Parts: sequence; structure tokens; C-alpha cells
Amino acid sequence: YSLQPYNTFGLDVKAKSFARFKSLETLKEGLQLAKNQPILILGGGSNLLFTKDYDGLVLKNELKGIDVIQEDAEHFYVEAQAGENWHQFVMHCIANNWAGVENLSLIPGTVGAAPMQNIGAYGVEIIQVFDHLKAMEIATGEIHTFNKEDCQFGYRESVFKKSLKGKYVITSGCFKLKKTPDFNTSYGAIAQTLEDMGVTELSIKAVSDAVIHIRQTKLPDPKEIGNSGSFFKNPEVDKIDFEGLRAEFPSIPGYPLPDNKVKIPAAWLIDQDGWKGKTFGQIGVHKNQPLVLVNYGGGKGADIKALAFKIQASVATKFGIELTPEVNIV
Ligand code: EPU
Repeated sequence: YSLQPYNTFGLDVKAKSFARFKSLETLKEGLQLAKNQPILILGGGSNLLFTKDYDGLVLKNELKGIDVIQEDAEHFYVEAQAGENWHQFVMHCIANNWAGVENLSLIPGTVGAAPMQNIGAYGVEIIQVFDHLKAMEIATGEIHTFNKEDCQFGYRESVFKKSLKGKYVITSGCFKLKKTPDFNTSYGAIAQTLEDMGVTELSIKAVSDAVIHIRQTKLPDPKEIGNSGSFFKNPEVDKIDFEGLRAEFPSIPGYPLPDNKVKIPAAWLIDQDGWKGKTFGQIGVHKNQPLVLVNYGGGKGADIKALAFKIQASVATKFGIELTPEVNIV
């Protein structure tokens, strides 16, 4: 069964078997059928690198629906089923004037995949609007509720990528969205873009439009060039080590974090090392954002993985920094 339409790298790999689920009952049946073989739950396939065919069952999440399940003076609690496209969910929130996810416009993938890696962009992470999620335990078919603490969110991390990896299928997420927006326009080019767009009165729609504009100019559209967004996480180093790096590389950027840590943009490290825009046959490093590895068509996942290793090795040699992939390598 070809998985090419179901991974944003556009890799031509096959799964031994494939099924979709539109209800919790069919999901439960699918999980029972799959006993004793590997299972991969697929959302938008936007954070995955297949390096070979998948020798197991791929289940595509197509649970749909968006509902306000609760309301208080300041918030709507909006529950979205995991198979909803994330960006369409964001657009739905903006159309209804539910604030909080506008900075997360145009992120590829599904609602179910979003909490898995605590998606973030332009100064907002999903943890800031997260209320709870529901997930089906693969071993039992039971639905369990996870609140914010249970999810153990971190930078592009959650419990579902660590101790509970492969144990649950996220079936829905509930987000606490504001009736009156708290605009977040301090990150990078947002304020400038709003000005360039001639926006005089802020709205969540205007912020979303600015984010969409920035993303479209910097990041390749997976429909045109296969990619999975940022391939690596931005590394965090101790402040003291950052001072040492700055002595050697005076222009190195760094963002201070709590606990005497500094986050360094992986894009800068890769860029300095001359990888930006490099092409190797059908794959390469994107010309505007070197953190993004691309498949121009017909590339192989194993080659992309090998390229990622080479980039890791060169950054490690030059800066002594270990880059960690953000993408799930299967
Ligand atoms: N930079 C360069 N050269 C470049 C591009 C960037 O040196 O060609 C350096 C600059 O110093 C720049 C810095 O990298 O200021 C940061 O670049 P950018 O604002 O593009 O963000 P990023 O850190 O590379 C992160 C997320 C993105 C998210 C953007 C915007 C990670 C791993 N990536 O990228 O998320 O959209 O910030 O908030 O945290 C994703 O996770 O897939 C993703 C795309």
C-alpha cells in the first residue's frame, strides 16, 4: 500500500497494510486486528521520515469534529477530534473569534499530532492553550484523559514521545481559547510584517495573516517540495559554554532560557557550515531555511537520513554541539 500521499516528504514507501478510522469503534477494532504486528498511527504525516517500507499496519486518523464543550467568563473550551487538519482548525477558531492559536497558523499536520510534540511557532506553543486530551490505550482500547501535567510538555516534547511512546493513540484535544485576545506579536518579523501589511488595528485574523505570510516566504510548501518542517531541534547549551562559543564565533545568536541555559538556532549553525541551499541529487538543504531538509521528487528517505547525519557530524566538529532530530525517523 503506497504511503506516498500520506507523508509530506513525498517518499515513495509502502506499508504492509493500511486502514483509516473515522470512529473510536473502528480504531478499537483496528488495534485488535493488528495484535502482534507493529502499528503506526498517521496524522498528517508531516513530521515523519520513512527510511524504508513499513512492515506493519498503518492506521490513518480521520476522526473529525470541533465542538465547544464548556465556557466560562473568559474562555471557550474547544474540543477538536484528532484527525482534523491543524490549520483548518486554526482557521475555524479565527472565524469564530476564539483567540490563542492564531500564531500557530499554517503548521502542517493534524490536531492529534499537535500535542504529541507541543508544536510551536512565532512565540506561542500549544502548551499555552492546552486544557486536556483524550487518547486510546493501544493495549486495552480504553480511553484515558490527560491533563497538562500528565502530558509532560517540553520543547517539541511530550510524554507521548518518551515513556508512553507507541502506547496511546491521541483521539481528541481540548483547547482553552480566549474570548478577548492577548496578542503575541513580539516574535521575529511579526510586528514588522503587520506594519508592512498596513494593519492599524490588531485582530487575530491580522496576526494569522502575518504568520501565514512569513511562513510562505521562508518555508517550502510540502505540496510543491517535499519536507517535514524543521528537521532538527534548536539546541540548548549551558550559559558558560555559550560564552565560550561567543568568544570563538562572535556573531553566534542565542536566546537566554531559565536555568542558565541558552538556545542557539540550529539554522545558524547549519548555515555557518555552508549547507544552505546545497543539493545532492534529488534531495537537499532548503535555500531559505537550512533547518529544513527537502525532497525535490524521487529522493530516498535513507539518503535524507544520511544527509542529516552528515550535517550533525559537521556541526559537532565545528561547534561541539550535538543536533537532535525533531522529525520522527521510521
Ligand atoms: N537563521 C540563520 N540562517 C537562516 C535562517 C535562520 O542563521 O537561513 C537563524 C537566525 O539567527 C534566525 C534564527 O535562525 O534568527 C531563527 O530562525 P527562524 O525564526 O526561522 O526559526 P527557527 O528557530 O529556525 C523555529 C521552529 C519552527 C518555527 C519557527 C518560527 C524549531 C525546531 N523550529 O525555527 O518550527 O516555525 O521557529 O517560530 O523550533 C517546526 O518545528 O517544524 C518548525 C518549522
